[in-house]
Amino acid sequence: MNTSKQHWENVYNTKVPEEVSWFQIYPKTSIAFVEQCNLSPDAHIIDIGGGDSHFADALLDKGFRNIYVLDISSNAIEKAKQRLGTRASKVNWIVSDITEFAPQVQFDLWHDRAAFHFLTTEDSIYKYVSIAEGAIKKGGHLILGTFSENGPKKCSGLEIKQYSAASMSAIFEVSFDRVKCITEDHATPFNTIQNFLFCSFNKK
Ligand SMILES: C[S@@+](CC[C@H](N)C(=O)[O-])C[C@H]1O[C@@H](n2cnc3c(N)ncnc32)[C@H](O)[C@@H]1O
Repeated sequence: MNTSKQHWENVYNTKVPEEVSWFQIYPKTSIAFVEQCNLSPDAHIIDIGGGDSHFADALLDKGFRNIYVLDISSNAIEKAKQRLGTRASKVNWIVSDITEFAPQVQFDLWHDRAAFHFLTTEDSIYKYVSIAEGAIKKGGHLILGTFSENGPKKCSGLEIKQYSAASMSAIFEVSFDRVKCITEDHATPFNTIQNFLFCSFNKK
């Protein structure tokens, strides 16, 4: 098991949802971005590093029928499944390191909140971008949330890479047009603030 997988298996094995800084009862900003994509209920949507997030629940509530959640941690996926109960069978679950993901379908929407920023080497960022480029349909959507340049330098005790609208756009510009970027303060369950950058892109 690589150290990153070990880290995340341990996090989801030892912490309850409200004990992790990224916890949100409802992923308001992500869903606001999804609404701007005007997707049909049959759209293929994947949440990268979805963990135990309520994003899949919110998509199910909105009537989406082709939802995928990918995470490096099988414990995270098990937790999400248990939370969703019978609704879990309506989601496609994938345990994989994103940099080794070999998608079987193409997606209309690729969403990632606070997973991409853990990739800190040029090689792993390059792999992520190549996989996203191949996996997102022409005209499809990419929504990425990372810590901003005013955000923390670490997440879950691990080094992360902060982004600005310009630096994130530069990484994706070969295959994606930027649509919109915003920053937002996320209030953690411990009453601290983390400044996020969210950008959306369209696949050329
Ligand atoms: C900070 S949490 C965010 C969880 C979720 N996206 C949310 O907003 O609540 C980061 C998530 O990314 C997952 N992750 C970290 N590195 C990953 C990788 N290389 N491939 C896939 N998932 C990864 C972790 O297991 C964890 O669930």
